[in-house]
Amino acid sequence: MVQHQQRPDATGKRESSAPGVVSFPGQSGAAAAAAAARPVRMAVEHATKHYKTRTGSVHALEDLSLEIGDGEFVCVLGPSGCGKSTLLWAMSGLHALTRGRIVLDGTPVRDPRPEIGMIFQDANLLPWRNLWQNIHFPFEIKKLDARPYRERIRGLIEEVGLAGFEKKMPRELSGGMQQRASIVRCLSFNPSVILMDEPFGALDAFTRDEMNLLIQKIWMDTGKTIIFVTHNVTEAIFLADRVVVLTPRPGRLAHVFPIDLPRPRTIGQTFTPGFIGTVLAIKRTIETGAYAGNDEAAGMGLELD
Ligand SMILES: Nc1ncnc2c1ncn2[C@@H]1O[C@H](COP(=O)(O)OP(=O)(O)OP(=O)(O)O)[C@@H](O)[C@H]1O
Ligand SMILES: [Mg+2]
Repeated sequence: MVQHQQRPDATGKRESSAPGVVSFPGQSGAAAAAAAARPVRMAVEHATKHYKTRTGSVHALEDLSLEIGDGEFVCVLGPSGCGKSTLLWAMSGLHALTRGRIVLDGTPVRDPRPEIGMIFQDANLLPWRNLWQNIHFPFEIKKLDARPYRERIRGLIEEVGLAGFEKKMPRELSGGMQQRASIVRCLSFNPSVILMDEPFGALDAFTRDEMNLLIQKIWMDTGKTIIFVTHNVTEAIFLADRVVVLTPRPGRLAHVFPIDLPRPRTIGQTFTPGFIGTVLAIKRTIETGAYAGNDEAAGMGLELD
């Protein structure tokens, strides 16, 4: 069942008692209840951001609050320029908020933390270093001995299907392979929280499907907490425990959609009527900035609560 929180004052707290709207066949809301029971790993508290520019101030985020459970997979959607990347940069500790704060395991995040890893749309591999050297680059920057991590890195390279490509230069790798390398680079430190900003936005549809299956597997195997920004509604529903939709700038919480589909999920499920009805409801929320029911799903003859 996909449950849509309908309270106009949605705070981003994880609740399982919200009324459901679209049902996937055979689902009971149990997954949403389990997600709500997780302890809070990370909290965004009243996040507000104004950028000062030469031509004036840009109001990017306004009083955005969100709790993310330990091991939860949260996808963030919203119109272009609504502050999604701003939110992620603030959560990484790299950019300060104007007001509000980010809390990780009860401690305010003011600087980059080793527990937090980040993956971007561009794999950001250095063109003059081979894959193995690129994965080791952060160790050099941090002046960390990589030897204790070697076995871990080898295992990760194997897991993402890059074994045998260690000596290849970035130009010899496809976009999907480059992004796999950036996933290994991020996971090599074993962060407990991973922030991903449109990581597969530049990939073709088939490669994106492959990457989504890979991320689902990594998430299921490791129990990492993942906050994943995307423009792709299908991708968000496929991956998430909850889909968070932001309003147009300044980004506020428009609506939170718990996704109660068992895992592992399949690409085939994204073509089912329940899934498509949810895509339409979320699209409409992005377009209007508020959840306005689910007429499209009803029009498709889907089961409504
Ligand atoms: N460093 C900056 N200095 C000034 N303004 C900025 C800066 N970074 C972002 N902005 C502005 O803040 C607003 C939010 O930007 P942000 O990149 O967070 O949006 P977004 O939701 O990630 O957009 P997109 O979906 O296109 O990636 C935009 O108007 C943008 O122009
Ligand atoms: Mg962005």
